[in-house]
Amino acid sequence: MDPRIERIEGAIRSVRERLQGLSPETGIVLGSGLGRLADSIESPLVIPYRDIPGFPVSTATGHKGNFIVGKLGGKTVMAMQGRIHYYEGYGMESVVLPIRVMIGMGIRNLFVSNAAGGVSFNLHLGDLMIIRDHINLLPNPLIGPNLDSEGPRFPDMTRPYDPSLIKLAEGLAAQMGIEVKKGVYIGDTGPSYETPAEYKFYRAIGADAVGMSTVPEVIVARHAGIPVFGMSVITNEAHDDYSEDYENDGEDVVRAANAAADKMTRLFKKIIEHI
Ligand code: HPA
Repeated sequence: MDPRIERIEGAIRSVRERLQGLSPETGIVLGSGLGRLADSIESPLVIPYRDIPGFPVSTATGHKGNFIVGKLGGKTVMAMQGRIHYYEGYGMESVVLPIRVMIGMGIRNLFVSNAAGGVSFNLHLGDLMIIRDHINLLPNPLIGPNLDSEGPRFPDMTRPYDPSLIKLAEGLAAQMGIEVKKGVYIGDTGPSYETPAEYKFYRAIGADAVGMSTVPEVIVARHAGIPVFGMSVITNEAHDDYSEDYENDGEDVVRAANAAADKMTRLFKKIIEHI
């Protein structure tokens, strides 16, 4: 058997044993500083990544390393409290393994979230941005012999983020009085933040927000035909004028994400209630 499949199936077996018959309908990936959404999950069953064979452990600031399975918006959800980033030094197979485990557990939708830098001048600290599309500057997680049991060799990417979920989210956000913007997320490797010239470059090629995650997870979900809803929380704004009084700082990013986590949590819960 392909060793990649053995690893995925080994992890799925171990998680299934712990789930006590629960079958999650929606997977959720919680970005930097956004792990608090997991506190809203009722009757939570916590599965630490370190207890799952073959699993990477998240080392990033603001990331715990647990699956949390329970009820949100009346549905059974499986949330990743902490994700794995390529910049941590893990290979792409490790970065996307948790997504493949959630797919193996039968999720029918994937919600992804992240802390991101505002590249567009329309995005400001604390804004929520529905991800309409992405640009990938990370290695593609599907490189290598195709895992035919997961999906096709050349998966379509015409609608990377599900149009009907976007519409639903926009409608519900309006009803709830939560302002949301919509834009393109560009994912690069990090871990260094962008230079002023890079922020300008990203803006010029059509990106609205930038971060160091999400895109590989979305590619793997779309490979398997899973509809995706994505949201960025804008935690800092692009400073591309060589100002002398500004620095990007990881702790500030986590603080800003924490401050917006409640808004995002309420919206995610409401969307999940309606799907
Ligand atoms: N750049 C890259 N990743 C990020 C940023 C940023 O400005 N903010 C939060 N994550």
